[in-house]
Amino acid sequence: MTIERVGVIGGGLMGSGIAEVCARSGSQVVIHEVDARTAEAALERVQTSLNRAIERGKMSESERSGILARIILSTDLDDQTDRQLVIEAATENEELKKQIFSDLDRIVTDESAILASNTSSIPITRLGAVTARPESVIGLHFFNPVPVMALVEMVTTVKTAEATEQRARAYAEGLGKTVIQAKDRAGFVVNMLLVPYMLAAIRMHEAGVASAEDIDTGMRLGANHPMGPLELTDFVGLDTTKYVADVLFDEFKEPLYASPPLLTRMVEAGLLGRKTGAGFYRYD
Ligand code: CAA
Ligand code: NAD
Repeated sequence: MTIERVGVIGGGLMGSGIAEVCARSGSQVVIHEVDARTAEAALERVQTSLNRAIERGKMSESERSGILARIILSTDLDDQTDRQLVIEAATENEELKKQIFSDLDRIVTDESAILASNTSSIPITRLGAVTARPESVIGLHFFNPVPVMALVEMVTTVKTAEATEQRARAYAEGLGKTVIQAKDRAGFVVNMLLVPYMLAAIRMHEAGVASAEDIDTGMRLGANHPMGPLELTDFVGLDTTKYVADVLFDEFKEPLYASPPLLTRMVEAGLLGRKTGAGFYRYD
């Protein structure tokens, strides 16, 4: 049974990218946001990304129109009722995600529908446990920027059904992504390795070992990373980075996952990185 009707909950940095790649592959996508303004902002992000593809000669005007026609904005979760796959990409907050999964369980009528989360770190088992269908709950973790990054981590719990796993994998591969599979441990594969590295760079900066620019230049030119760790933290969002660090610390109780005070203070001050125009760097 092919998946044609997709829902995306949260149209932020990740949700807008996920909606874009799903619509590009031919699915009809309903993006759910908290209000009309954030929903419009999600669509604007998709438009910017599609315009960029046109400018680079990678997409025609008619392809863009077709993709945009497949995206529907919504502020009513009931609009998810007929979805075959819902990918939750709301703020990295466990209680919020549990509420969304509990609501989706009530609203989505198709018993074979897949309820997926794009969480960076929160154990999927906890999200499945608030539903009456944990066998249909899975992690589908995309990477930022979604249209560019080739990976999806698929996270299965002890309750995830094999049919859910197979359909979710086939769908992600149909988006052109390479799928790796991970067990349900906070941070899965990539963030368990990447986030301590980002936190170490923040601690290094906080200790005054080197400037943000020099730390980033060091890793860009010395290790051939496309972005240095502090640029990357700005790109991911300092709030998301801190949430992920907190979940990892909660799971493993190891100091390497503890949020450095500088990160905590910057989040408290609203310096969230690119999305707020300032983090370790300023953005126009
Ligand atoms: N949306 C769509 N396309 C984008 C884009 C965006 N936001 N940003 C860049 N692109 C595309 C460009 O159109 C361009 O495409 P073509 O090659 O087809 O022309 C390509 O990406 C390269 O873009 P640029 O030349 O403008 O810029 P760049 O070479 O500096 O690359 C980058 C930009 C791809 C973001 C690169 O800097 C990079 O790979 N950075 C690291 C990203 C990364 O590590 N992401 C993972 C974050 S961790 C995570 O996601 C997990 C988590 O849970 C927190
Ligand atoms: P973001 O702050 O850009 O977007 C989150 C969006 O969720 C906001 O637009 C917000 O309005 C919306 N939202 C909040 N509550 C909602 C609700 N009840 N219903 C619908 N929408 C709601 O965050 P993001 O970076 O897009 O992260 C979203 C998820 O993706 C998080 O779980 C995060 O950990 C994960 N993730 C982030 C990255 C990254 O690099 N930023 C990468 C991979 C995964």
